[in-house]
Amino acid sequence: ASTSNNGALAVSLTAAPGAAVAGQAGAGLGFNGGSPGPTLRVRPGDVLRVRLINHLQQPTNLHTHGLHVSPERNGDNPFVVIAPGEVFDYEYRIPANHPAGTFWYHPHHHQYVADQLFGGLAGALIVDGGPDLGAVMDRVLLIGDTTLDGAGRIAAVSAMDRMMGRQGSLVLVNGQHQPVATAESGVPERWRLINACTSRVLSLRLEGHQLTHVARDGYFLPVPEVRDRIVLAPGNRADVLVHPAAGRHRLLTDPYDRGNPGMMGGMAATGSTAANGPITLATLVVSGTKSRTASPPGALPAPVLPTGPVTARRTVTFGMQMGMGGGGMGFTIDGRRFDPQRTDQAVRLGATEEWLVSNTSPMDHPFHLHVWPFQVLGTSANPVAEESLRDVVLVPAHGWARLRVTFADFSGRSVYHCHILDHEDAGMMATIQVA
Ligand code: C2O
Ligand code: CU
Ligand code: CU
Repeated sequence: ASTSNNGALAVSLTAAPGAAVAGQAGAGLGFNGGSPGPTLRVRPGDVLRVRLINHLQQPTNLHTHGLHVSPERNGDNPFVVIAPGEVFDYEYRIPANHPAGTFWYHPHHHQYVADQLFGGLAGALIVDGGPDLGAVMDRVLLIGDTTLDGAGRIAAVSAMDRMMGRQGSLVLVNGQHQPVATAESGVPERWRLINACTSRVLSLRLEGHQLTHVARDGYFLPVPEVRDRIVLAPGNRADVLVHPAAGRHRLLTDPYDRGNPGMMGGMAATGSTAANGPITLATLVVSGTKSRTASPPGALPAPVLPTGPVTARRTVTFGMQMGMGGGGMGFTIDGRRFDPQRTDQAVRLGATEEWLVSNTSPMDHPFHLHVWPFQVLGTSANPVAEESLRDVVLVPAHGWARLRVTFADFSGRSVYHCHILDHEDAGMMATIQVA
């Protein structure tokens, strides 16, 4: 149900139970009956209109993760509440100079985000255009995870899982468990990798191949980087070029240790996040015998980094406290839980600022800011400044990340938060007012 003409795309999304997940009919939540939802493709300068119909039994809304659009009114407004049975019309005006790249959408109603994403509510949002990368095939790999119970339903989640950040026992590619894809040797492909897992950090590699990393979170790198492995925190994306080599190759994710809150207060952590070995996500079967043509892509567009004098420096602190409200674990930013009424940061429109995100807890937390992408100047794990923009950065346990951001183009009210969505739902989110 989508039409595209004259720079306008109108699409209707119905969020409802009953979608097939991992081949189990009716197990999960979906958009228009599917998980993931339809891939939305727009171009810079387009107006994207989305009618969201809520057929869930709980409130929901929609967030266009990473898109540089207005957070006000019916734009990318995380404060919209769509009650069960209600309909809301979003309108996203995509700037004519918006980067062409890989973004995604998912619900964002506080306290329901993790459950709704884990249930299957997510989809890719592609801004088309940009340079010709020489790829003949363009694939979206939206990687999510979930757990099904004995009855083939999305499994209930324990308090420990919520504290750790749940990791599903099934890691899915485009809603499927270990799909097989075919390719032809010598025919280059562009893969758009999206980490749509609720909490899992992906550490991806493709057997027998190197991956040419060209874009991160929708923004091109200054030069392509040939890598053996791509690490994506929840919410991160990577665009990579793949030059298929004949044979059968598995796309794998290796265990990644996000740290352990069980180190706090002598608590036993049964939900260790470090799995025992690699997990197969998909298999690529490559026919033909042509040799690999690892021709480098043409020049990538020069990144536009924050410039201008830094007019404010702020520190925001991720923390976990035992025994906050009701005796559970408290997940906080600057010692406070999310309050949509409170303004946590007041920023001047157009200002360039440097933020130090520090983490006093024994777990990694992926920091995410809506609407305004940032440059990472360094983290405690890697002090080197990046020459490109992104919207999620992993802040190491007992560590920090420094970033620079220009609050350009849009005023309004939005949020920043931990993208381990169990933590976000527990309160690790705060508001920003740009005026
Ligand atoms: Cu992908 Cu505020 O989130
Ligand atoms: Cu987001
Ligand atoms: Cu967190």
